[in-house]
Amino acid sequence: MMRWISGFMLALLLSMSAVVMSEAGILPERFSINAPIMNSLFGWDADAPAESELETRLQVPDGFTLNRYAVGVSNARELLATPAGDLLVSAPRRNRIMLLSADKDGDGRADGKRVLIDGLDGPHGIDLHEGYLYIAERSAVGRIAFDAASGEVSGDYRHIVTGLPDGGNHWTRTVRVGPDDRLYVSVGSSCNVCIEDDPRRAAILRYTLDGGEGEIFARGLRNSVGMDWRPADGALYAVDNGRDLLGDDFPPEEMNKVVAGGHYGWPFFHGDNVPDPEFGTHPQVAKIRDTLRGQAYGFTAHMAPLGITFMRNPDAPGGLAGAALVAFHGSWNRSRKSGYKVMSVHWGADGTISTRDFLWGFEKDEDVIGRPVSVAEGVDGAIYVSDDYTGTIYRVVWGGKGKQVMRPAAAPPAAAGMAMRDPLAGLSDAERMQLTQRGGEIYAAMGCVNCHGPQGEGRTAPALAGLAQRYGIADLVALFEKPPANMPPARLNGDEARALAVRLLDVNG
Ligand code: HEC
Repeated sequence: MMRWISGFMLALLLSMSAVVMSEAGILPERFSINAPIMNSLFGWDADAPAESELETRLQVPDGFTLNRYAVGVSNARELLATPAGDLLVSAPRRNRIMLLSADKDGDGRADGKRVLIDGLDGPHGIDLHEGYLYIAERSAVGRIAFDAASGEVSGDYRHIVTGLPDGGNHWTRTVRVGPDDRLYVSVGSSCNVCIEDDPRRAAILRYTLDGGEGEIFARGLRNSVGMDWRPADGALYAVDNGRDLLGDDFPPEEMNKVVAGGHYGWPFFHGDNVPDPEFGTHPQVAKIRDTLRGQAYGFTAHMAPLGITFMRNPDAPGGLAGAALVAFHGSWNRSRKSGYKVMSVHWGADGTISTRDFLWGFEKDEDVIGRPVSVAEGVDGAIYVSDDYTGTIYRVVWGGKGKQVMRPAAAPPAAAGMAMRDPLAGLSDAERMQLTQRGGEIYAAMGCVNCHGPQGEGRTAPALAGLAQRYGIADLVALFEKPPANMPPARLNGDEARALAVRLLDVNG
């Protein structure tokens, strides 16, 4: 519907909102807006793209499949997967939290959706910890008992933090429970660039689980909506939205490794501590020098990273194990749009960070059909992405069309019950070991690793993972004979092919 009325109404709305924004001093006069911001400003939903459009426009890396998991989830923002396989979705402009029921019938869609809690004040951030659902509202954090098995809340919803600074530019709040059992609350800046009156703005705050002992954990973060801990080293990473009005290509959108007491630059410095033209020489710079930290990684300017989620399934397929997925909402005032996609972020053995597209095509030739906000990893290994532009939840699974592989995650085990296939069950341990060893030699000799090897080294084929759920020995032997497109046929005799198949199922199963 929104797209149907786009012509006249949209022009009217945009000019109205531009007036509102320039009144508020956010935009200079005659500044042109170049994004579907009516949905950001008012929280209206555009139509979800048709399934046919999905197929032609949206793309995922080889080996993955995308489908619409739920539609009509108005203002879908932060996503959280429960241990029972349900999804919680915050809808701040609807003042509620929704629950999407796990896909038990296996059709690739949520089995239902319902309002879990409503009447909240702009709830955005959500997290689950030890039987409580934590919710970040505009100026408060509350919690309520939540039973993942039944998907029901019980008892009263109670505020544990109140009086957070409210109003101004960035009004959504994020709450996460850290590995240290503390609450981390992110509060964005009130302005594009300015000296804040309240030191709790443009900062990450930290509290005990019941909201006590509030402190400022880190500063200089203009609007870090997304934060998560990297399982490999326990460090907190937060993405940050850089300031506007310094052109199309500056500053970079930051990903910061956030340490206690660190200052991440805003409003004085951006990216790798490049001074701001206005605030870079401000007298207050002297006070923050000692704690100033540069970014861990810089993305293209104005992409608006919102969600960051580390994959916790150690067997995450497609090279995703240990990676983070970052959702980019997309630029609103860049002359050529940037963002509007999900990227995977990878840490090399030497600590270097590289990125790849994971879900893209929401923006094409400046036309927008979606704005990713948040990413969740389900207990079944599926990846969910929210889009607040159309109120759609997308699901990405490893495996070919219609195969929709389910892999149990390592933790938590609550949603087990999916039987693991073992195509090697018929082999004795000795046979299995012997064939795997032989197969490993063949794998190395045939150069399989050149295409399927570890990520980051020009890998051109999907990482081999989850094979045992989809193939038996005979299936793989057949695949080597008639390989898929872009894979050369392997010249192997029957025994060699069998050993290689066993090795793949044993090691990459
Ligand atoms: C030139 C690059 C290349 C080489 C070398 C190569 N492959 Fe592949 N392989 C691919 C590509 C590309 C695909 C994905 C094809 C598709 O699904 O469209 C693939 C798919 C596969 C699959 C299916 C994966 C799945 O998840 O369904 C298996 C199994 C596989 N390769 C095993 C091997 C083995 C074993 C070797 C060594 C004998 C090998 N490949 C060598 C490129 C290569």
